[in-house]
This record gives sequence, C-alpha cells and structure tokens, in this order.
Amino acid sequence: MTSIEFDLPEGFLWGAATSAYQTEGGNTGANWWYLETMPNSPFKDRSGQAVDSYHRYREDMRLLAEAGLDSYRFSIEWSRIEPRPGEFARAELDHYRSVIDTAFEFGLTPVVTLHHFTNPMWFFRGGGWAAPDAVDVFARYVTTVAPIVADVPWLCTINEPNVIALLAEMPARAAAAEQSAGALDSRPIAGLALPTPSDAVTVTLIRAHRRASDILHAATDAKVGWTVSGQGFEAEPGCEEVLAAVKWAWEDRYLEVARHDDFVGVQSYTTRRIGPSGPMAYTEAEKQTMTGWPYRPDALGLSIRNAWKACDGTPILVTENGIATADDRLRIAYTTGALQEVEAAVRDGIDVRGYLHWSALDNYEWGEWGPTFGLIAVDRESFERSPRPSLAWLGRRARAQRTSRFEANDALRLEFG
Ligand code: BGC
Repeated sequence: MTSIEFDLPEGFLWGAATSAYQTEGGNTGANWWYLETMPNSPFKDRSGQAVDSYHRYREDMRLLAEAGLDSYRFSIEWSRIEPRPGEFARAELDHYRSVIDTAFEFGLTPVVTLHHFTNPMWFFRGGGWAAPDAVDVFARYVTTVAPIVADVPWLCTINEPNVIALLAEMPARAAAAEQSAGALDSRPIAGLALPTPSDAVTVTLIRAHRRASDILHAATDAKVGWTVSGQGFEAEPGCEEVLAAVKWAWEDRYLEVARHDDFVGVQSYTTRRIGPSGPMAYTEAEKQTMTGWPYRPDALGLSIRNAWKACDGTPILVTENGIATADDRLRIAYTTGALQEVEAAVRDGIDVRGYLHWSALDNYEWGEWGPTFGLIAVDRESFERSPRPSLAWLGRRARAQRTSRFEANDALRLEFG
C-alpha cells in the first residue's frame, strides 16, 4: 500500500480556493473598486488587474490539477453578471460556464461561491444588505445564475456572512474614530481589531441564504451551504462567560443556520483571545504572520469542532485555511499541522468532506498586496505563475491518499471478488 501521511476518508476533496475579486482583475463595477479608488481611500493598494485570472483561469486550474489536487473553489462576481439592476450580461454567464467546464475538463471538482464579499456598485449605493429589498434582489441574481451551476456539486451561497456583518459596522466605527482621534484607521482589514457583527445585516443575510438555498435546491443537485469564518476564540482565565456570548454573536449564530444545510464551509486561519471586554487586539509577540495573526495551525481543529457542535452534525467542508508568509517551508509546516487537526477530527467521528487551501494563488488581500497566501506565486507585472514547493507537496499528499484508497479497494475486490 502506498504510504500516506494523512488518513482521510474516501472521496475526500483536496483542493485550493480563490475568489473572483481577489484574482480576476478589472472588476470596475464592484463596490470594492469604488472603495479602493475613491479619494482618501482607506486601502493601501488597489486591486487593478489583480492576477488576471479572468483570462488565465485555465492556466491556474491546469497547475492545480497537474500537481495532483482534485478540486477548486472559486466565486462568481455578481457585478459582472448584473452590471445594472435587473440587466444580466449573457457573455459573463457564458464566461463562468466556461470556467466551470474547464474545472471538469481538468478533473477538478468545482466548488462555486455565489457571493464572496463584493457587491455591484448599484446594490451598494442602494443600501447594500441594509436595503429593504436586498433579499429579493439577491434572489433574482441567484435565479439567473442557477442554470449555469446546474451540475456543480458544491455551491456556497454567501462567503463569511459573519465577516460581511462585521464589515457593515466599519463605517460607523471609522466615523467614531475620526471624531475622537481625527484620523481614519488606514490599516487593511486583516490587521484590525474588529467590531461585533451587525445584527440587522445578519438577519438579512440569513434570509438571503435561505432563499438562495431554496432556489439552488430546486434548480440543481448540488450540496448547498454557506461558509463561516471560524474565529478560534480562546478565553483568558475567568472570561468563559464573555467567550460564550462573543462566540455566539461572531460565529455560532451563523453555524446554527447551517443545521439544516447540506454542508457548512469552515474557514480558519488563527485564534483570538477573549478578555473581560471581548476579543483582544493581538500583542506584538502574537503578530507572527504577514497578516499580523498568530501562527496557529491548530486553529482549524478548534473551528471544525466548534462547527460540528454548533451545527449539530452538519457535514463540514474546509473551504479556506492557509497562512500569509514569505517562507514556503512555514506554509508546509502550517498546513501539515492543520491537516493533522482534520485527521484527528475525522478520527473522532466528525464528518469532514474535504480541505481547500487558501489560496491557490497570491492575490489581492482586501486592501493590500503584501500578504502572500498562494501555493502559486504570481509576478504582478507579467502575470507569470510560479508554483511554490507547497503546491507540489499538497498535490503529492492528495495523490498518495487517492492511490492508497484505490489500492485498498482493489485488495478487497481481489479478496472478496
Ligand atoms: C476571506 C478571503 C481572505 C482570507 C484571508 C477570508 O476571510 O474569505 O477572501 O483573503 O480570509 O484574509
């Protein structure tokens, strides 16, 4: 039998993930484009042509498949599909259908996200998720996209609703900061100590997710779910009650929604300590990666176990996990630790269906280009892709796992006919 490093179930997905806005480039109709380009933008860098995956998706997928991975998560950019309210771009629908076909062609199981943070500018201007007709408007987009994702096996409605609801609080917080200190907080989102997610936006996102799930269930055979950002909260001594309250508002209420879903996407990067007044800012000593987060590969285990409990046994797909680092050996060490956590969770009876590494490629980290999460490095001038050793490393694990399962089944067939 081929030796395998991680003992994971048959059919386990081994892949990598990206999002449209962070990789495609030229998403001029999206609200983030506006936020990046407005005078006094709070963001350091612009996304620009990003890594041109809008044109180079074929090469991206070929590299993943050649390395041995078998799945790819990517998203559809709403602002491309619906550039004006109720007006749909046939050519863009065809484009994403080609992306899906390309995944199948390379033997990659597509995992498609319908909403990954960005909104069309017109939706944003109309109040975004706070607008009274937000759910209907989103449902119209989902209905239009449904035919092109009809044969996609895994669909994520909304990426990290808990982070969207938290970002919705940012303008109020920035205004308060401006009033008190006279300056807008210019750190990219990854480094901020964040406010509590907005309740009103959360309620709308839950309704939007349910409507989208109904539409997708009626139109496809896909497993449908949403993806939740696992916070890896840990209580300081004596702060267990604070932890319970914070964990519900930031994480568990979104996981509870997934109790009746086909799966829940777990996304995890790090941990955060909870003190007497809630989530604590990272100390200098804790800022160990390029995003200023602690190096905690075990965070994935915490998030998986928490999701399993809060969802009451909904199957889990790890839809994002990774590290922003310039040291690829550290990426491999981190991923090894994270996969050991997945393996331990599976051993304990938790139903984990796959692991999608964030990210396939270095990409636009919501306001900056500095942090590099990619299994593949990209030259931002020439767009040349250079796979890092971590890609081959992960691909080899995926192959070894599949081969060993195949050989084990073969042995059984030989023995029992
Ligand atoms: C998001 C990604 C992001 C990653 C690292 C997740 O919150 O879904 O878009 O790049 O974390 O910050």
